[in-house]
Amino acid sequence: MSTNNFVEFDQSKCVDKKYGHQHVMSSFTTYPIETIRDEIRKSPIKPPTITPKYDSNSMSTVLEWHGKKDVRIAQRPKPIITDDSDAIIHVTSSTICGSDLHMYNGDMKGMLSKDIIGHECMGIVESIGPNVKNIKVGDRVVVSAPIACGQCEYCKTGLFSLCDITNDSKVMETMYGHRICGAFGYSHLTGGYDGCQAEWVRVPFADVNLLKIENNRLTDEQVLFLSDIVCTAWHANVLGGVGPGTTVAVWGAGPVGLLTVMWAKYRGAKRIFSIDCIEERLAKARTQGAETIDFSKDNVIETMQKLLPGGPDVCIDAVGFRYTKGMVHKMQRAVFLETDSPEVLDEAIVVVRKGGSVAIIGDYFYKSNQFPIGTFMEKAVTMRGGQLYCQSYWHDLLKIIENGEVDPTFIITHTMELSRAAEAYKMFDEKSDGTIKVVLKTAFAAVQQTSN
Ligand SMILES: NC(=O)c1ccc[n+]([C@@H]2O[C@H](COP(=O)([O-])OP(=O)(O)OC[C@H]3O[C@@H](n4cnc5c(N)ncnc54)[C@H](O)[C@@H]3O)[C@@H](O)[C@H]2O)c1
Ligand SMILES: [Zn+2]
Ligand SMILES: [Zn+2]
Repeated sequence: MSTNNFVEFDQSKCVDKKYGHQHVMSSFTTYPIETIRDEIRKSPIKPPTITPKYDSNSMSTVLEWHGKKDVRIAQRPKPIITDDSDAIIHVTSSTICGSDLHMYNGDMKGMLSKDIIGHECMGIVESIGPNVKNIKVGDRVVVSAPIACGQCEYCKTGLFSLCDITNDSKVMETMYGHRICGAFGYSHLTGGYDGCQAEWVRVPFADVNLLKIENNRLTDEQVLFLSDIVCTAWHANVLGGVGPGTTVAVWGAGPVGLLTVMWAKYRGAKRIFSIDCIEERLAKARTQGAETIDFSKDNVIETMQKLLPGGPDVCIDAVGFRYTKGMVHKMQRAVFLETDSPEVLDEAIVVVRKGGSVAIIGDYFYKSNQFPIGTFMEKAVTMRGGQLYCQSYWHDLLKIIENGEVDPTFIITHTMELSRAAEAYKMFDEKSDGTIKVVLKTAFAAVQQTSN
């Protein structure tokens, strides 16, 4: 059992130390929030324009959301530089995230018909605004899913997804008391920005929200997920405090859960358990060194107690609010008595060792019933959650990928043209044809490949 699994890992081995992640580690300390709020009131930072200007003479192929299980390819005018800190990206590859399935299944609030969706992509910089300093036209870049300003007190402390400037949603402020960052193609709760399952995407605060890929030997597939889930899965490990010798259980063996297992192994976890009900996903987890539990066959709590009687140091929820198991929560969600099912968290809190930690990386949006507050409190569990701090991690994680120390491409099962995105969503949602992660290629990707 590791005794100090929140803050310190074996620093000699720990990448956080190796690449100097102390600023992110400091997020374990309670931040003086009133100071931050005072700063914001006085903030001179100009929020980005949400709806960009468009060039009505050039068209962009995009994926539009039209309602539950209804996404359609459409032609829309191409975005152009709108704010001085913008860049316009000619997308080569994008992909579908488990978070996109919240919108696809009609579970995400704040969607409007014809919203352009998608938040993980990369491509080539076509144009930049006059204030962009670090990025040049022609650079190959990965786009961060969370949109950060890079200047507010949250961004300055590395907590980029808590950026105060990029999301103007009053609804979110009413729900949460605060607004977190804006995001591409992720409903009007996170600003209502156009998404990047598209040929062209406009990126505000380009210096902050783009990662330059200078090594042309790296394929799009190797680096694309730095825009979200590679960083997300790292974040799950940071939130849980996974380090050498830790024992870890990960609920969900979707793309995020699988990469969480990959990083747990990289960070030196002693035993890793992966829990899901889909055999091909569990098989992938085994390739990363995990022991697996199929919850459709075995009771998770009993099996975990047999396999590791004291309980794992860290339990990670990579499932989220939308999947329900039992009738109680299916019914409550159906009649809007609760928005988020807490079943995975319930299991995790029972399974985790006394004094252990539970990390919530799967998305939750609002409220749950029957949350096991007593078990959580009496066992002295620490629970942390949050959206990824993409920009804090991606430089370091790129180096690890570049060194060949990990290869996130093991989750890719399908590569399809962007024009087939509706089909790809259906497959990913239904998990048919063994679909785990789909890479969507634009026509421009083929042009780029031949010219390289
Ligand atoms: N916090 C962040 O920054 C962040 C970023 C990206 C994605 N996410 C979230 O992470 C979650 C996972 O994303 P993904 O792309 O892997 O999605 P996914 O939907 O493909 O994966 C979820 C997996 O959980 C499994 N599952 C369902 N119920 C379960 C249960 N009771 N126990 C164990 N496993 C169960 C499913 O079979 C599936 O394989 C989603 O909620 C997504 O929104 C969060
Ligand atoms: Zn995502
Ligand atoms: Zn900010």
